[in-house]
Amino acid sequence: MQLIDGKATAAEIKKEIRAKVDAMVAEGKRAPHLAAILVGHDGGSETYVASKVKACEECGFRSTLIRFEDDIDEQTLLDTVDRLNRDPEVDGFIVQLPLPAHISEQKVIEAIDFRKDVDGFHPVNVGRLSIGLPCFQSATPKGIMTLLERYGIDTKGADCVVLGRSNIVGKPVATLMMQKAVPGDATVTVCHRGTRNIKEVCRRADIIIAAMGRPGSVTADMVKEGATVIDVGTTRVPDATRKSGFRLSGDVEFAEVSPKCSHITPVPGGVGPMTIVSLMQNTLLAASGEVYPKD
Ligand code: GUN
Repeated sequence: MQLIDGKATAAEIKKEIRAKVDAMVAEGKRAPHLAAILVGHDGGSETYVASKVKACEECGFRSTLIRFEDDIDEQTLLDTVDRLNRDPEVDGFIVQLPLPAHISEQKVIEAIDFRKDVDGFHPVNVGRLSIGLPCFQSATPKGIMTLLERYGIDTKGADCVVLGRSNIVGKPVATLMMQKAVPGDATVTVCHRGTRNIKEVCRRADIIIAAMGRPGSVTADMVKEGATVIDVGTTRVPDATRKSGFRLSGDVEFAEVSPKCSHITPVPGGVGPMTIVSLMQNTLLAASGEVYPKD
């Protein structure tokens, strides 16, 4: 069994990005600039955004964090999105999700200029992803594909089972895995709460990508000998032995599943760091105009 070390891979990629940014700046260009909008004080969102700001520093990017209380009205948020859309000094930006219930996430996502949508959530980027055109790929699926590529995992013709059908992970990772590309070219099955025979479907899989957001979703009896298991879960479970009072739990029962695997990602230290670094890669692409040329 080989552990897929997302933390080490992300650190390598950050170094590669840093070298490119240093070269850009040496040529007289400005450093890439990522802005993030954070609404409210959700613990998970605070942590993610702080990690994104820290990663910007490590990559030599400029970052701007715009904070609002959770009683902000939708129009103020849309006006802020519009201001960032028009700011030539901002290459890309994200609105951290989830948003408070009184704000339409979809409306906010669609207000973002797709050329600055480094999260890859805008329908233009989602649509272009689905037909294999250059676009900003959403960060978690992109990070998973990078891990499969860097660990040399053969996906061509593989049976891949994706657990979960979210817009952020399940659907886009299924799209990328079925794309005629390397990595990709897999036979993909997407399972969700409505799937009747998840165990049988999983037992056929060469690659399982678990993104249900429910600890204990993948047990040893669901995994074929020699399978690759990618755990996207990051559920906070109470843990009195930790200073924070919680620990992160993946969707996979790691102790019983890992001995059967050829490769497996841990939680934490697997997919999580790759999500952040993929956002950095997208920001660099936004700054360089490689996906969508700058006007
Ligand atoms: N909430 C959970 N994951 C993400 C993400 O990748 N981007 C944003 N903006 N919000 C999230």
